Amino acid sequence: MREEDINSKYNITIVDTDVTFKCARETHLLEGMRSLGQKGIPSGCHGGGCGICKIKILSGRNSYITKTMSRTHISEEEEKKGIVLACRVFPKGDIQLNVVGKIKRKILSGQKIWNFS
Ligand code: FES
Repeated sequence: MREEDINSKYNITIVDTDVTFKCARETHLLEGMRSLGQKGIPSGCHGGGCGICKIKILSGRNSYITKTMSRTHISEEEEKKGIVLACRVFPKGDIQLNVVGKIKRKILSGQKIWNFS
């Protein structure tokens, strides 16, 4: 892998809020969201086990890679549709996503705080 690939940061857009943040290839999307400093982003397990960080990726399968996720929270069918756990997803290109599940209310309730662009 080329050094610029390793150091690449991608634009991640949460379509529900129009917030965009940068996320490095080696940083999972939940950590990227938390780096925005918004109160209320759930911490969860960060291991794909609790299901709190469910998102839907709109930008296509080639924009990210995933690590193992609990089938209790994400079925194979959901994963094929881009519904994944943010703590188990790493960008390899720019990503557009919607928040779903338990994380949605937290993020949308903090939307006013996030409108800093
Ligand atoms: S934080 Fe627990 S599944 Fe993502």
